[in-house]
Amino acid sequence: MQGKIVLITGANDGIGLHTAQRLAEKGAQLILACRDERKGHNAATLISQRTGNSKSLVIPLDLANLQSVQAAAEFLLTEHPAIDVLINNAGIFSNTLQLTDDHFELQFGVNHLGHFLLTNLLLPALRCPQEGGRVINVSSAAHYHGKIDFENLSGEKGSKAYDGMQAYAQSKLANVLFTKELARRYPEDLTANCLHPGVVGTHFGNKHTNFLTSAIWNLYRPFARKPYRGADTTVYLAASPEVRDVSGRYFDQCQCVKRPSEAGRDEGLARRLWEVSERMVAPFLVG
Ligand SMILES: NC(=O)c1ccc[n+]([C@@H]2O[C@H](COP(=O)([O-])OP(=O)(O)OC[C@H]3O[C@@H](n4cnc5c(N)ncnc54)[C@H](OP(=O)(O)O)[C@@H]3O)[C@@H](O)[C@H]2O)c1
Repeated sequence: MQGKIVLITGANDGIGLHTAQRLAEKGAQLILACRDERKGHNAATLISQRTGNSKSLVIPLDLANLQSVQAAAEFLLTEHPAIDVLINNAGIFSNTLQLTDDHFELQFGVNHLGHFLLTNLLLPALRCPQEGGRVINVSSAAHYHGKIDFENLSGEKGSKAYDGMQAYAQSKLANVLFTKELARRYPEDLTANCLHPGVVGTHFGNKHTNFLTSAIWNLYRPFARKPYRGADTTVYLAASPEVRDVSGRYFDQCQCVKRPSEAGRDEGLARRLWEVSERMVAPFLVG
């Protein structure tokens, strides 16, 4: 990864931090895109101490605020006209209905829509590297339970009808569909793949959840995959020459033998989600 520029969202904690550290070990020049800049700088210091690679740059990025996404992309396009790898890793799970700053349902907004906008705005930089850029979307096996409710992407049905697990599954299905459609639209100059990292013992289940969910997650966490190992598939997709020409696939444990759900393979649904997402972020797609 020497000389490669790798942008990682949510790089200050959990799977993202370990992905960043392991790619730093391989010599990559990292851009850590973090909601909280202070946490981002702490992560950069940690990565430098652990790997001796002090080339990390920290940029602010709040995926729940499309203006922040647009500003990050503008800065990146100026500073880094070529980006070799974009890892759309950041994500949340929430029990209750919350909205982004742009009034979209929070899990759909952060896990899908913010990344959709970021990736689209960065396309010129991702299509620039000679080998072609790699886009990696961290999805989840939860997508197998997902369906896209186009009538409720802004929480129109209200908090009583809100099912946090279903909203999470929907957002992770959106990651799979976005991957598929991105790969279809840009077959020549980039690859796009998504993955399930395993069930990983991060603090993912403690951050936007109620007391009960957080307590259950705490009991479960010691038995889950260690965060270092949770980064395996992302690192494989970012760095391995084996997948240089592979695109539009879903990976689990560094393999794409498992197919995504039927909905995740639905080309018509992937196109519809792309078009709807494009309309939702339209004010921010132009400079
Ligand atoms: N852990 C699992 O078992 C598991 C299983 C399947 C899939 N995944 C997926 O793996 C990815 C990483 O999860 P994780 O387990 O590593 O969770 P984590 O430890 O909670 O890390 C999530 C990262 O996303 C960042 N983030 C959250 N909201 C953001 C926003 N609005 N803008 C920018 N960044 C934001 C967090 O920042 P803060 O630190 O500031 O909150 C953090 O850096 C997620 O996409 C998740 O869906 C996880």
